Amino acid sequence: MDIEKIIKNMTLEEKAKFVSGVDMWTTEAFDHLGIPSVFVSDGPHGLRKQENNKGNEVGITDSIDAVCFPTACATASSFDRNLMRQMGVDLGKECQAVDVSCILGPAINIKRSPLCGRNFEYVSEDPYVAGELSAAYINGVQSQNVGTSLKHFAANNQETERMYASSDMDERTLREMYLTAFEIAVKKSQPWTIMASYNRINGSYSTENKKLLTDILRDEWGFEGLVMSDWGAVSDRVAGLKAGMDLEMPGSRGVNDPYIVESVKNGELAEEDLDKAVRNMLKFIEKFVEHRQEETFDRDVDHEKAVRVEEQCVVLLKNDGNVLPLNSDEKIALIGGFAKTPRYQGGGSSHINAHNVVSALSVKDSYGSISFAEGFPYDADVTDEAMQAEAVGLAEKSDKIVVFAGLPDVFESEGYDREHMRLPDCQNLLIDKLVATGKPVIIVLHNGSPVEMPWLDGVSAVVEAYLGGEGVGEAVMNVLYGKVNPSGKLAESFPILLEHNPSYLNFPVARHKVNYAEGVFVGYRYYDTKKMDVLFPFGHGLSYTEFSYSNLKINGVPAGENVQADINSTITVTVDVTNVGDIEGAEIVQLYVSDKTGTINRPVHELKGFDKQVIKPGETVTYTFDLDKRSFAWYSEEVSDWYAADGIYTIEIGKSSRDICLSGAVELTGSFQLKPVIDMNVQLGELIAYKKTSEFIKQEFKNATTQFSDIGDSDDPMTVAMLEYMPIRTLRSFGTLTNEQIDELLKELKKLVD
Ligand code: BGC
Repeated sequence: MDIEKIIKNMTLEEKAKFVSGVDMWTTEAFDHLGIPSVFVSDGPHGLRKQENNKGNEVGITDSIDAVCFPTACATASSFDRNLMRQMGVDLGKECQAVDVSCILGPAINIKRSPLCGRNFEYVSEDPYVAGELSAAYINGVQSQNVGTSLKHFAANNQETERMYASSDMDERTLREMYLTAFEIAVKKSQPWTIMASYNRINGSYSTENKKLLTDILRDEWGFEGLVMSDWGAVSDRVAGLKAGMDLEMPGSRGVNDPYIVESVKNGELAEEDLDKAVRNMLKFIEKFVEHRQEETFDRDVDHEKAVRVEEQCVVLLKNDGNVLPLNSDEKIALIGGFAKTPRYQGGGSSHINAHNVVSALSVKDSYGSISFAEGFPYDADVTDEAMQAEAVGLAEKSDKIVVFAGLPDVFESEGYDREHMRLPDCQNLLIDKLVATGKPVIIVLHNGSPVEMPWLDGVSAVVEAYLGGEGVGEAVMNVLYGKVNPSGKLAESFPILLEHNPSYLNFPVARHKVNYAEGVFVGYRYYDTKKMDVLFPFGHGLSYTEFSYSNLKINGVPAGENVQADINSTITVTVDVTNVGDIEGAEIVQLYVSDKTGTINRPVHELKGFDKQVIKPGETVTYTFDLDKRSFAWYSEEVSDWYAADGIYTIEIGKSSRDICLSGAVELTGSFQLKPVIDMNVQLGELIAYKKTSEFIKQEFKNATTQFSDIGDSDDPMTVAMLEYMPIRTLRSFGTLTNEQIDELLKELKKLVD
């Protein structure tokens, strides 16, 4: 494609038309210009291609027969970049086979509240995990010459008023918590497209937000792709084009075209801005159409892959007395509507028309002696005494009880938020009755987001299967029976109560505004800093084997010894992990950084590295992590940049955020100090702390005959502490300085600081 020539040959009207979708899924074609139409399709855990799309309906459930891979809440628990990449490769091939140019995902918004209806589609409460795993997925899909659409950019963390509410927060919170995952994904995988979200951020719609779509996304991060709107997210089309919002989806059915044309004619919109959007469209289309691949979509083969993926995602949350794995000789009571009808995906635009859904019940005969009683329905909160009695009766005759519990579809979906964090009452009631039988109870959960577990103490084991895709039944049975050793860990915290969640007081909206008052203290950043008990911490997950951690080294130096490093260097951390059990297993090792410099209030620690490796019994594997300046930094609004002060940082190696096995300190040097603002209100303590002014200010006070002349060498801690927070102007009242003398002082100080 000669993109520049095409742009030259396009009329203004054609350009205006080109930057809107034709219908729900296709872009505009211009045969005489050699521009074909391309088809985009929802995902991201399978294809929701609406083949007979007439462009006039959303048709959530009306799509091609496709394979439903595990949803993001599940795949996140794999903490496995290779797995994410491979799943992306497989989906990319599927896209090629059915002529889809771009899969609309991954969705990586941060899980701020367990109530967000779309949490099942999102990755994590931690931006590093969300960014790393989604970058791997994107690289996989795009290796097959198919695009992705990283969504929903940005700060779209709830469904309530999702198309109108304003996510209000300070710049630091936005950068650290709500943009970082996108930044990582953009920098590491350059998605072909990014989807601007429905919501507003600090009052401005994402689709009209120049700071977001151009200044940050393109100028700072180097994004080179196409920005498309979420479906129906455009409010003011011309404002969007000016801001860098290229493609309106699904289009305005022509309504906005004359408005765009008119705006160019009357000078409100520069034609160059429209051309930019056209160019981004053409580049996107070119990438797809000029690199088509011959692929076949073998649903049965991909189904098997979906099962294997889920096996790597299941999280064993609890396993008292090694009640699991089950033994094929044991008599098992399988209970719960989800054993027959698993919940394997969520509702809304990611809904796949699944090819082959496997329930635990349908495969049970290959595993052992298993009998089934429904106990409660899979799709509603209805207590049926007879069903319960049958389940309890069966349980009493069995050795162990496995309950498939979870959230019915209607409890969590795109479009609305959850009302509470509980399982249906009918399930909790029956679980209590089953616990009362005295038999070991094992709970398998199908949910897209945390649930309260009032029965936790009474049950022996809990297996979090999440919404594990169409093969979930088989994958879970393989884990229950030990054919697969579980290796997933939670990419989110499970609070004990909803009320413990840091967003609780400000979720979902107040008068169309969402107050992100908890700031950067999201998920474990809050629970761990507050030392609060949680049901299960971030990063937690058990195995059928045991791992022991040893030999932590920072830049080759054993932990405990002095390590200094330049802030701009790469710091390498290594740790040995030994499988001390009898069977092979995979271990996810987590690296957290804790800032001890005291420069600003920060979470007690933040995840900055993770890796998963398979380890044979008796084998020791060395995990290696590379840290850079960003691993230690926070976002400073003062310098409008990432900043890490000189000083001590602790490197923690953990099995979860609450199970830190080893730690060591590193002293960073080579950074700069944040400057004090030199005016009448600068505090004496700031001047003393700031290296460039410290000696000067102490000397000045020694020379002056103020009642504070001992400031320079006072060792009375109370005096020093008192002085610390005194603005320099107060020396008019408490010292003998005149305004003129203070002005002179400020001039000198400015010279030193600038
Ligand atoms: C969702 C997007 C989705 C789009 C197209 C929107 O409502 O927010 O995630 O890709 O619809 O179905």
